[in-house]
Amino acid sequence: AQQKATIKVNPSADAPTINKHIYGHFSEHLGRCIYDGFYVGEGSAIPNTKGVRNDIIAALKELGIPNLRWPGGCFADTYHWKDGIGPKEKRPTIVNQWWGGVTEDNSFGTHDFLDLCEVLDTEPYLAANVGSGTVQEFTEWIQYVNHGGKSPMSDLRKQNNRDTPWGVKFWGVGNEAWGCGGNMTAEHYANLYRQYSTFMTDWSNTGSLFRIASGANVADYHWTEVLMREIPKNLLDGVALHSYSFVTWEKKGSSTKFDEQQYFTTMQTALKMEELVTKHTEIMDKYDPKGKVALVVDEWGGWYDVEEGTNPGFLYQQNTMRDAMIAGTTLNIFNNHSSRVRMANLAQTVNVLQAVILTKGDKMLLTPTYHVMKMYKVHQDAKLIPIELATPDYKVGSETLPAVSASASVKDGKTHISLVNIHAKDKETVEIDLNALKLKDFTAQILSSGKLQDYNSFENPNAITPKAFKDFKVKNGVLTVTLPPFSVVVLEAK
Ligand code: AHR
Repeated sequence: AQQKATIKVNPSADAPTINKHIYGHFSEHLGRCIYDGFYVGEGSAIPNTKGVRNDIIAALKELGIPNLRWPGGCFADTYHWKDGIGPKEKRPTIVNQWWGGVTEDNSFGTHDFLDLCEVLDTEPYLAANVGSGTVQEFTEWIQYVNHGGKSPMSDLRKQNNRDTPWGVKFWGVGNEAWGCGGNMTAEHYANLYRQYSTFMTDWSNTGSLFRIASGANVADYHWTEVLMREIPKNLLDGVALHSYSFVTWEKKGSSTKFDEQQYFTTMQTALKMEELVTKHTEIMDKYDPKGKVALVVDEWGGWYDVEEGTNPGFLYQQNTMRDAMIAGTTLNIFNNHSSRVRMANLAQTVNVLQAVILTKGDKMLLTPTYHVMKMYKVHQDAKLIPIELATPDYKVGSETLPAVSASASVKDGKTHISLVNIHAKDKETVEIDLNALKLKDFTAQILSSGKLQDYNSFENPNAITPKAFKDFKVKNGVLTVTLPPFSVVVLEAK
Protein backbone atom coordinates (compact mmCIF):
# COMPACT_ATOMS: atom_id res chain seq x y z
CA ALA A 1 0.00 0.00 0.00
CA GLN A 2 0.99 3.59 -0.63
CA GLN A 3 3.02 5.11 2.26
CA LYS A 4 2.65 8.77 1.32
CA ALA A 5 0.08 10.65 -0.70
CA THR A 6 1.35 12.17 -3.93
CA ILE A 7 -0.33 14.82 -6.04
CA LYS A 8 0.53 15.78 -9.59
CA VAL A 9 -1.04 19.03 -10.75
CA ASN A 10 -2.04 19.35 -14.40
CA PRO A 11 -3.01 22.98 -15.06
CA SER A 12 -4.98 23.22 -18.28
CA ALA A 13 -6.56 26.03 -20.24
CA ASP A 14 -9.48 23.68 -20.94
CA ALA A 15 -10.20 23.02 -17.28
CA PRO A 16 -13.62 24.21 -16.07
CA THR A 17 -14.28 27.09 -13.74
CA ILE A 18 -15.57 25.90 -10.36
CA ASN A 19 -19.04 27.40 -10.33
CA LYS A 20 -19.53 29.40 -7.13
CA HIS A 21 -23.01 27.90 -6.88
CA ILE A 22 -21.43 24.62 -5.71
CA TYR A 23 -21.10 26.46 -2.38
CA GLY A 24 -24.87 26.99 -1.99
CA HIS A 25 -27.05 26.44 1.06
CA PHE A 26 -30.55 25.19 1.80
CA SER A 27 -33.13 26.51 4.26
CA GLU A 28 -36.41 24.71 4.65
CA HIS A 29 -39.45 25.36 6.80
CA LEU A 30 -38.28 22.58 9.05
CA GLY A 31 -37.75 22.60 12.79
CA ARG A 32 -35.81 25.68 13.88
CA CYS A 33 -34.26 26.58 10.53
CA ILE A 34 -36.61 29.46 9.62
CA TYR A 35 -38.73 30.09 12.73
CA ASP A 36 -36.50 30.47 15.84
CA GLY A 37 -33.52 30.18 13.50
CA PHE A 38 -33.12 32.79 10.80
CA TYR A 39 -36.37 34.46 11.68
CA VAL A 40 -37.21 35.76 15.13
CA GLY A 41 -39.70 38.43 14.06
CA GLU A 42 -39.38 42.19 14.12
CA GLY A 43 -40.61 42.40 17.72
CA SER A 44 -37.80 40.17 19.02
CA ALA A 45 -35.25 41.47 21.52
CA ILE A 46 -32.59 39.75 19.41
CA PRO A 47 -31.16 42.37 17.01
CA ASN A 48 -32.72 41.78 13.61
CA THR A 49 -33.36 43.21 10.17
CA LYS A 50 -36.99 42.76 9.15
CA GLY A 51 -37.18 39.91 11.64
CA VAL A 52 -34.00 38.08 10.51
CA ARG A 53 -31.20 37.84 13.09
CA ASN A 54 -28.36 40.27 12.40
CA ASP A 55 -25.74 37.84 13.73
CA ILE A 56 -26.86 35.21 11.20
CA ILE A 57 -26.85 37.77 8.38
CA ALA A 58 -23.30 38.84 9.29
CA ALA A 59 -22.05 35.24 9.51
CA LEU A 60 -23.56 34.27 6.16
CA LYS A 61 -22.22 37.40 4.46
CA GLU A 62 -18.78 36.50 5.74
CA LEU A 63 -19.23 33.03 4.26
CA GLY A 64 -20.09 34.52 0.86
CA ILE A 65 -22.99 32.20 0.22
CA PRO A 66 -23.76 32.24 -3.53
CA ASN A 67 -27.32 30.92 -3.37
CA LEU A 68 -29.98 29.89 -0.90
CA ARG A 69 -32.66 27.28 -1.60
CA TRP A 70 -36.13 27.72 -0.03
CA PRO A 71 -38.84 26.81 1.16
CA GLY A 72 -38.08 23.06 0.98
CA GLY A 73 -37.40 20.13 0.75
CA CYS A 74 -40.53 18.14 1.33
CA PHE A 75 -42.22 21.29 2.63
CA ALA A 76 -42.03 22.82 -0.87
CA ASP A 77 -44.65 20.45 -2.29
CA THR A 78 -47.12 21.45 0.43
CA TYR A 79 -46.43 25.18 0.25
CA HIS A 80 -48.87 27.65 -1.29
CA TRP A 81 -46.94 30.86 -1.78
CA LYS A 82 -49.99 33.15 -1.80
CA ASP A 83 -50.57 32.23 1.86
CA GLY A 84 -47.24 33.89 2.69
CA ILE A 85 -47.81 37.39 1.22
CA GLY A 86 -49.80 40.42 2.36
CA PRO A 87 -50.46 41.63 5.92
CA LYS A 88 -48.99 39.08 8.31
CA GLU A 89 -51.94 39.10 10.69
CA LYS A 90 -54.26 38.06 7.85
CA ARG A 91 -52.23 35.13 6.61
CA PRO A 92 -53.70 31.65 6.99
CA THR A 93 -51.79 29.02 8.94
CA ILE A 94 -50.19 25.90 7.52
CA VAL A 95 -49.54 22.63 9.30
CA ASN A 96 -46.09 21.30 8.51
CA GLN A 97 -47.14 17.77 7.70
CA TRP A 98 -43.64 16.43 7.08
CA TRP A 99 -41.74 18.04 9.92
CA GLY A 100 -43.12 17.73 13.44
CA GLY A 101 -46.75 18.48 12.54
CA VAL A 102 -46.36 22.03 13.85
CA THR A 103 -48.66 24.85 12.82
CA GLU A 104 -46.93 27.81 11.18
CA ASP A 105 -48.39 31.28 10.80
CA ASN A 106 -46.84 31.96 7.37
CA SER A 107 -45.15 35.07 8.75
CA PHE A 108 -41.99 34.25 6.81
CA GLY A 109 -43.00 34.32 3.14
CA THR A 110 -41.83 35.30 -0.33
CA HIS A 111 -41.01 38.94 0.50
CA ASP A 112 -39.18 37.98 3.67
CA PHE A 113 -37.07 35.40 1.88
CA LEU A 114 -36.27 37.43 -1.23
CA ASP A 115 -35.48 40.56 0.79
CA LEU A 116 -33.15 38.45 2.92
CA CYS A 117 -31.40 37.21 -0.23
CA GLU A 118 -30.90 40.83 -1.28
CA VAL A 119 -29.37 41.68 2.09
CA LEU A 120 -27.11 38.62 1.87
CA ASP A 121 -26.25 39.39 -1.76
CA THR A 122 -27.08 35.80 -2.58
CA GLU A 123 -29.16 34.30 -5.40
CA PRO A 124 -32.51 32.87 -4.34
CA TYR A 125 -33.33 29.34 -5.47
CA LEU A 126 -37.08 28.78 -5.15
CA ALA A 127 -38.40 25.22 -5.02
CA ALA A 128 -41.96 25.38 -6.30
CA ASN A 129 -44.89 23.14 -5.50
CA VAL A 130 -45.58 20.46 -8.09
CA GLY A 131 -46.78 17.66 -5.79
CA SER A 132 -49.91 19.41 -4.50
CA GLY A 133 -49.91 22.58 -6.61
CA THR A 134 -50.91 23.57 -10.09
CA VAL A 135 -49.23 24.94 -13.19
CA GLN A 136 -51.14 28.17 -12.63
CA GLU A 137 -49.98 28.59 -9.03
CA PHE A 138 -46.40 27.93 -10.13
CA THR A 139 -46.38 30.32 -13.07
CA GLU A 140 -48.11 33.04 -11.06
CA TRP A 141 -45.30 32.83 -8.50
CA ILE A 142 -42.80 33.47 -11.29
CA GLN A 143 -44.86 36.38 -12.54
CA TYR A 144 -45.15 37.78 -9.00
CA VAL A 145 -41.40 37.82 -8.35
CA ASN A 146 -40.14 38.49 -11.89
CA HIS A 147 -42.56 40.58 -13.93
CA GLY A 148 -41.55 44.22 -14.33
CA GLY A 149 -44.50 45.33 -16.47
CA LYS A 150 -48.20 45.44 -15.74
CA SER A 151 -49.78 42.09 -14.95
CA PRO A 152 -52.12 40.63 -12.34
CA MET A 153 -49.26 39.31 -10.24
CA SER A 154 -46.99 42.36 -10.53
CA ASP A 155 -49.96 44.51 -9.45
CA LEU A 156 -50.43 42.26 -6.43
CA ARG A 157 -46.73 42.54 -5.60
CA LYS A 158 -46.93 46.33 -5.80
CA GLN A 159 -49.96 46.31 -3.49
CA ASN A 160 -47.68 44.48 -1.07
CA ASN A 161 -45.17 47.35 -1.22
CA ARG A 162 -42.63 46.00 -3.64
CA ASP A 163 -42.39 47.83 -6.97
CA THR A 164 -39.39 46.25 -8.65
CA PRO A 165 -39.28 42.54 -9.28
CA TRP A 166 -36.52 40.58 -7.54
CA GLY A 167 -35.49 38.65 -10.65
CA VAL A 168 -35.34 35.03 -9.48
CA LYS A 169 -33.32 32.86 -11.83
CA PHE A 170 -33.12 29.47 -10.09
CA TRP A 171 -36.33 27.40 -9.95
CA GLY A 172 -36.81 23.88 -8.71
CA VAL A 173 -39.73 22.09 -10.35
CA GLY A 174 -40.89 20.23 -7.25
CA ASN A 175 -38.70 18.28 -4.83
CA GLU A 176 -38.05 14.56 -4.41
CA ALA A 177 -40.88 13.71 -6.80
CA TRP A 178 -40.00 10.03 -6.23
CA GLY A 179 -40.90 10.40 -2.51
CA CYS A 180 -42.47 13.20 -0.44
CA GLY A 181 -43.00 15.22 -3.65
CA GLY A 182 -45.66 12.79 -4.90
CA ASN A 183 -44.29 9.23 -4.99
CA MET A 184 -44.13 9.46 -8.77
CA THR A 185 -42.40 7.24 -11.26
CA ALA A 186 -39.60 8.85 -13.27
CA GLU A 187 -41.72 8.52 -16.39
CA HIS A 188 -44.71 10.31 -14.84
CA TYR A 189 -42.54 13.09 -13.40
CA ALA A 190 -40.71 13.61 -16.70
CA ASN A 191 -44.07 14.28 -18.36
CA LEU A 192 -45.18 16.61 -15.59
CA TYR A 193 -41.85 18.43 -15.81
CA ARG A 194 -42.35 18.96 -19.55
CA GLN A 195 -45.79 20.41 -18.85
CA TYR A 196 -44.72 22.74 -16.01
CA SER A 197 -41.56 23.98 -17.69
CA THR A 198 -43.44 24.82 -20.88
CA PHE A 199 -45.29 27.56 -19.01
CA MET A 200 -42.28 28.95 -17.16
CA THR A 201 -41.32 32.34 -18.53
CA ASP A 202 -38.86 34.77 -17.03
CA TRP A 203 -40.80 37.87 -18.15
CA SER A 204 -37.64 39.30 -19.77
CA ASN A 205 -36.15 39.65 -16.36
CA THR A 206 -33.30 37.30 -15.53
CA GLY A 207 -31.98 36.67 -19.05
CA SER A 208 -33.25 33.12 -18.77
CA LEU A 209 -34.66 31.03 -15.99
CA PHE A 210 -32.57 28.15 -14.71
CA ARG A 211 -35.04 25.27 -14.43
CA ILE A 212 -34.03 22.36 -12.22
CA ALA A 213 -35.78 19.00 -12.39
CA SER A 214 -36.34 17.09 -9.17
CA GLY A 215 -33.55 14.55 -9.29
CA ALA A 216 -32.53 11.11 -8.24
CA ASN A 217 -32.32 9.67 -4.78
CA VAL A 218 -28.69 8.58 -4.36
CA ALA A 219 -27.94 5.78 -6.88
CA ASP A 220 -31.28 5.79 -8.70
CA TYR A 221 -29.64 5.97 -12.11
CA HIS A 222 -32.90 5.03 -13.84
CA TRP A 223 -34.35 8.35 -12.65
CA THR A 224 -31.58 10.39 -14.28
CA GLU A 225 -31.71 8.24 -17.43
CA VAL A 226 -35.46 8.82 -17.89
CA LEU A 227 -35.26 12.57 -17.22
CA MET A 228 -32.33 13.07 -19.57
CA ARG A 229 -33.96 10.94 -22.28
CA GLU A 230 -37.51 12.27 -22.05
CA ILE A 231 -37.12 16.00 -21.37
CA PRO A 232 -36.18 18.22 -24.33
CA LYS A 233 -32.95 20.06 -23.49
CA ASN A 234 -34.46 23.45 -24.32
CA LEU A 235 -36.73 22.97 -21.27
CA LEU A 236 -34.03 21.80 -18.89
CA ASP A 237 -31.05 23.52 -17.23
CA GLY A 238 -30.34 21.33 -14.23
CA VAL A 239 -31.08 17.87 -12.89
CA ALA A 240 -30.92 17.44 -9.13
CA LEU A 241 -29.40 14.69 -6.96
CA HIS A 242 -29.86 14.13 -3.22
CA SER A 243 -27.48 12.11 -1.07
CA TYR A 244 -26.95 12.21 2.70
CA SER A 245 -24.28 10.64 4.93
CA PHE A 246 -25.07 8.51 7.99
CA VAL A 247 -24.10 5.31 9.77
CA THR A 248 -27.18 3.56 8.39
CA TRP A 249 -30.45 5.17 7.33
CA GLU A 250 -32.38 3.12 9.89
CA LYS A 251 -29.91 3.68 12.78
CA LYS A 252 -28.34 7.04 12.14
CA GLY A 253 -26.58 7.25 15.50
CA SER A 254 -25.65 10.17 17.71
CA SER A 255 -24.13 13.31 16.22
CA THR A 256 -21.45 13.49 18.92
CA LYS A 257 -21.15 10.03 20.50
CA PHE A 258 -19.82 7.70 17.85
CA ASP A 259 -16.98 5.22 17.64
CA GLU A 260 -14.42 4.82 14.89
CA GLN A 261 -16.44 2.15 13.08
CA GLN A 262 -19.46 4.47 12.94
CA TYR A 263 -17.25 7.32 11.77
CA PHE A 264 -15.78 5.11 9.06
CA THR A 265 -19.22 4.01 7.87
CA THR A 266 -20.39 7.63 7.74
CA MET A 267 -17.35 8.51 5.62
CA GLN A 268 -18.12 5.57 3.32
CA THR A 269 -21.53 7.08 2.56
CA ALA A 270 -20.01 10.56 2.19
CA LEU A 271 -17.26 9.44 -0.18
CA LYS A 272 -19.83 7.52 -2.22
CA MET A 273 -20.52 10.97 -3.70
CA GLU A 274 -17.51 10.40 -6.01
CA GLU A 275 -19.18 7.37 -7.58
CA LEU A 276 -22.60 9.03 -7.64
CA VAL A 277 -21.54 12.15 -9.51
CA THR A 278 -19.37 10.07 -11.87
CA LYS A 279 -22.20 7.72 -12.81
CA HIS A 280 -24.96 10.34 -13.01
CA THR A 281 -22.58 12.43 -15.14
CA GLU A 282 -21.98 9.47 -17.49
CA ILE A 283 -25.72 9.23 -18.11
CA MET A 284 -25.99 12.97 -18.65
CA ASP A 285 -23.03 12.87 -21.07
CA LYS A 286 -24.89 10.29 -23.16
CA TYR A 287 -27.94 12.53 -23.70
CA ASP A 288 -26.22 15.90 -23.41
CA PRO A 289 -22.66 15.52 -24.71
CA LYS A 290 -22.09 19.27 -24.78
CA GLY A 291 -22.80 19.51 -21.04
CA LYS A 292 -25.65 22.07 -21.21
CA VAL A 293 -27.55 20.56 -18.28
CA ALA A 294 -25.97 20.91 -14.84
CA LEU A 295 -25.94 18.25 -12.14
CA VAL A 296 -27.33 20.07 -9.10
CA VAL A 297 -26.66 18.28 -5.79
CA ASP A 298 -29.24 20.38 -3.99
CA GLU A 299 -29.29 18.33 -0.78
CA TRP A 300 -26.20 16.81 0.83
CA GLY A 301 -24.67 16.50 4.29
CA GLY A 302 -24.58 14.38 7.44
CA TRP A 303 -27.82 13.14 8.98
CA TYR A 304 -27.84 11.77 12.56
CA ASP A 305 -30.30 11.23 15.42
CA VAL A 306 -31.69 14.45 16.86
CA GLU A 307 -30.21 15.83 20.08
CA GLU A 308 -31.76 14.40 23.22
CA GLY A 309 -34.95 16.14 24.29
CA THR A 310 -35.55 17.83 20.93
CA ASN A 311 -38.49 17.21 18.58
CA PRO A 312 -37.66 14.17 16.36
CA GLY A 313 -39.28 15.98 13.43
CA PHE A 314 -36.99 19.00 13.80
CA LEU A 315 -33.73 17.29 12.77
CA TYR A 316 -31.60 19.34 15.18
CA GLN A 317 -28.10 17.87 15.52
CA GLN A 318 -24.64 18.92 16.71
CA ASN A 319 -21.76 19.21 14.30
CA THR A 320 -18.32 17.70 14.98
CA MET A 321 -15.00 17.18 13.23
CA ARG A 322 -16.71 14.25 11.47
CA ASP A 323 -18.90 16.85 9.73
CA ALA A 324 -15.80 18.86 8.82
CA MET A 325 -14.49 15.69 7.14
CA ILE A 326 -17.76 15.27 5.21
CA ALA A 327 -17.70 18.91 4.10
CA GLY A 328 -14.04 18.98 3.07
CA THR A 329 -14.13 15.73 1.09
CA THR A 330 -17.50 16.44 -0.55
CA LEU A 331 -16.48 19.91 -1.68
CA ASN A 332 -13.27 18.45 -3.13
CA ILE A 333 -15.38 15.96 -5.08
CA PHE A 334 -17.64 18.74 -6.39
CA ASN A 335 -14.64 20.89 -7.37
CA ASN A 336 -13.03 18.02 -9.25
CA HIS A 337 -16.32 17.30 -11.09
CA SER A 338 -17.15 20.94 -11.71
CA SER A 339 -17.56 20.56 -15.46
CA ARG A 340 -20.93 18.87 -14.73
CA VAL A 341 -21.58 19.61 -11.03
CA ARG A 342 -22.35 23.31 -11.20
CA MET A 343 -24.59 23.83 -8.22
CA ALA A 344 -25.06 22.23 -4.79
CA ASN A 345 -26.81 22.98 -1.51
CA LEU A 346 -25.67 21.84 1.91
CA ALA A 347 -28.60 20.76 4.11
CA GLN A 348 -29.42 22.91 6.04
CA THR A 349 -28.13 26.39 6.96
CA VAL A 350 -29.39 26.95 10.53
CA ASN A 351 -30.30 24.41 13.26
CA VAL A 352 -31.15 21.54 10.88
CA LEU A 353 -28.96 18.57 9.84
CA GLN A 354 -25.38 19.57 8.90
CA ALA A 355 -25.93 23.22 9.78
CA VAL A 356 -23.26 25.91 9.47
CA ILE A 357 -24.97 27.89 12.26
CA LEU A 358 -26.66 26.79 15.49
CA THR A 359 -28.71 29.06 17.74
CA LYS A 360 -30.03 28.86 21.30
CA GLY A 361 -32.05 31.85 22.47
CA ASP A 362 -29.94 34.90 21.67
CA LYS A 363 -26.76 32.81 21.34
CA MET A 364 -25.31 31.74 18.03
CA LEU A 365 -22.35 29.54 17.12
CA LEU A 366 -20.47 28.65 13.97
CA THR A 367 -19.94 24.92 13.43
CA PRO A 368 -16.79 23.20 12.12
CA THR A 369 -18.68 22.87 8.82
CA TYR A 370 -19.02 26.66 8.66
CA HIS A 371 -15.25 26.98 9.01
CA VAL A 372 -14.59 24.46 6.23
CA MET A 373 -16.99 26.27 3.89
CA LYS A 374 -15.24 29.53 4.71
CA MET A 375 -11.76 28.11 4.12
CA TYR A 376 -12.96 26.71 0.76
CA LYS A 377 -14.61 29.96 -0.34
CA VAL A 378 -11.45 30.72 -2.32
CA HIS A 379 -12.49 28.05 -4.85
CA GLN A 380 -15.68 29.92 -5.81
CA ASP A 381 -15.48 30.86 -9.51
CA ALA A 382 -11.79 29.88 -9.63
CA LYS A 383 -10.32 27.84 -12.47
CA LEU A 384 -9.97 24.20 -11.52
CA ILE A 385 -6.46 22.75 -11.61
CA PRO A 386 -6.96 19.07 -12.40
CA ILE A 387 -4.87 16.78 -10.18
CA GLU A 388 -3.77 13.17 -10.07
CA LEU A 389 -3.86 11.92 -6.50
CA ALA A 390 -2.41 8.69 -5.11
CA THR A 391 -3.26 8.18 -1.46
CA PRO A 392 -2.63 5.74 1.39
CA ASP A 393 -5.64 3.79 2.59
CA TYR A 394 -7.57 4.41 5.74
CA LYS A 395 -8.40 0.88 6.87
CA VAL A 396 -10.93 -0.24 9.45
CA GLY A 397 -11.47 -4.00 9.68
CA SER A 398 -11.26 -5.32 6.16
CA GLU A 399 -12.59 -2.14 4.53
CA THR A 400 -10.58 0.73 3.13
CA LEU A 401 -11.17 4.33 2.13
CA PRO A 402 -8.77 6.80 0.52
CA ALA A 403 -7.19 8.66 3.45
CA VAL A 404 -6.42 11.87 1.58
CA SER A 405 -8.71 14.00 -0.56
CA ALA A 406 -7.66 17.09 -2.51
CA SER A 407 -8.61 19.71 -5.07
CA ALA A 408 -6.87 22.78 -6.46
CA SER A 409 -7.80 25.98 -8.27
CA VAL A 410 -6.40 29.32 -9.38
CA LYS A 411 -8.03 32.77 -9.36
CA ASP A 412 -6.62 36.29 -9.56
CA GLY A 413 -3.07 34.96 -9.58
CA LYS A 414 -3.54 32.93 -6.40
CA THR A 415 -3.46 29.14 -6.30
CA HIS A 416 -5.31 27.21 -3.60
CA ILE A 417 -4.98 23.57 -2.70
CA SER A 418 -7.47 22.06 -0.26
CA LEU A 419 -6.44 18.86 1.48
CA VAL A 420 -8.31 16.56 3.85
CA ASN A 421 -6.93 13.68 5.87
CA ILE A 422 -9.88 11.60 7.08
CA HIS A 423 -7.73 9.06 8.97
CA ALA A 424 -8.89 8.87 12.59
CA LYS A 425 -5.42 8.04 13.96
CA ASP A 426 -2.61 8.57 11.46
CA LYS A 427 -1.10 11.74 10.15
CA GLU A 428 -0.48 11.66 6.40
CA THR A 429 2.37 13.10 4.41
CA VAL A 430 1.42 14.60 1.06
CA GLU A 431 3.98 15.40 -1.64
CA ILE A 432 2.80 17.81 -4.31
CA ASP A 433 4.90 18.12 -7.44
CA LEU A 434 4.72 21.81 -8.24
CA ASN A 435 6.96 21.84 -11.29
CA ALA A 436 3.99 22.56 -13.56
CA LEU A 437 3.21 25.65 -11.44
CA LYS A 438 5.74 28.24 -10.47
CA LEU A 439 4.53 29.09 -6.99
CA LYS A 440 5.90 31.13 -4.11
CA ASP A 441 4.80 32.80 -0.86
CA PHE A 442 2.96 29.87 0.67
CA THR A 443 0.55 30.34 3.56
CA ALA A 444 -1.94 27.86 4.99
CA GLN A 445 -4.82 27.40 7.38
CA ILE A 446 -5.86 24.27 9.23
CA LEU A 447 -9.02 23.06 10.93
CA SER A 448 -8.28 20.28 13.39
CA SER A 449 -9.07 19.24 16.94
CA GLY A 450 -8.04 16.74 19.62
CA LYS A 451 -10.96 14.38 19.10
CA LEU A 452 -13.15 13.54 16.15
CA GLN A 453 -16.17 13.99 18.40
CA ASP A 454 -15.22 17.57 19.33
CA TYR A 455 -17.69 20.33 18.55
CA ASN A 456 -18.42 23.99 19.25
CA SER A 457 -20.90 24.32 22.10
CA PHE A 458 -22.80 27.37 23.33
CA GLU A 459 -20.50 27.29 26.38
CA ASN A 460 -17.37 27.07 24.24
CA PRO A 461 -18.33 28.35 20.77
CA ASN A 462 -14.75 28.83 19.54
CA ALA A 463 -13.34 25.45 20.55
CA ILE A 464 -12.74 24.63 16.87
CA THR A 465 -11.66 27.47 14.55
CA PRO A 466 -9.17 27.65 11.68
CA LYS A 467 -5.57 28.35 12.68
CA ALA A 468 -2.43 29.30 10.78
CA PHE A 469 -0.63 26.14 9.61
CA LYS A 470 3.10 25.80 9.09
CA ASP A 471 3.77 22.08 8.80
CA PHE A 472 4.89 22.17 5.17
CA LYS A 473 8.08 22.83 3.21
CA VAL A 474 9.03 23.37 -0.41
CA LYS A 475 12.21 21.75 -1.80
CA ASN A 476 13.19 21.25 -5.44
CA GLY A 477 9.70 22.09 -6.66
CA VAL A 478 8.04 19.59 -4.30
CA LEU A 479 5.73 20.79 -1.57
CA THR A 480 5.59 18.38 1.35
CA VAL A 481 2.70 18.78 3.77
CA THR A 482 2.05 16.80 6.93
CA LEU A 483 -1.65 16.54 7.68
CA PRO A 484 -2.65 15.64 11.24
CA PRO A 485 -5.37 13.01 11.66
CA PHE A 486 -8.87 14.24 10.68
CA SER A 487 -7.80 17.67 9.53
CA VAL A 488 -8.60 20.09 6.71
CA VAL A 489 -5.83 22.28 5.29
CA VAL A 490 -6.12 24.98 2.62
CA LEU A 491 -2.82 26.25 1.15
CA GLU A 492 -2.46 29.49 -0.73
CA ALA A 493 0.41 30.49 -3.00
CA LYS A 494 1.16 33.12 -5.63
O1 AHR B 1 -33.41 18.05 4.27
C1 AHR B 1 -34.41 17.30 4.89
C2 AHR B 1 -35.28 16.55 3.91
O2 AHR B 1 -34.52 15.59 3.24
C3 AHR B 1 -35.88 17.36 2.81
O3 AHR B 1 -37.07 17.98 3.18
C4 AHR B 1 -36.15 16.35 1.74
O4 AHR B 1 -36.09 16.88 0.46
C5 AHR B 1 -35.11 15.28 2.00
O5 AHR B 1 -35.66 14.02 2.06
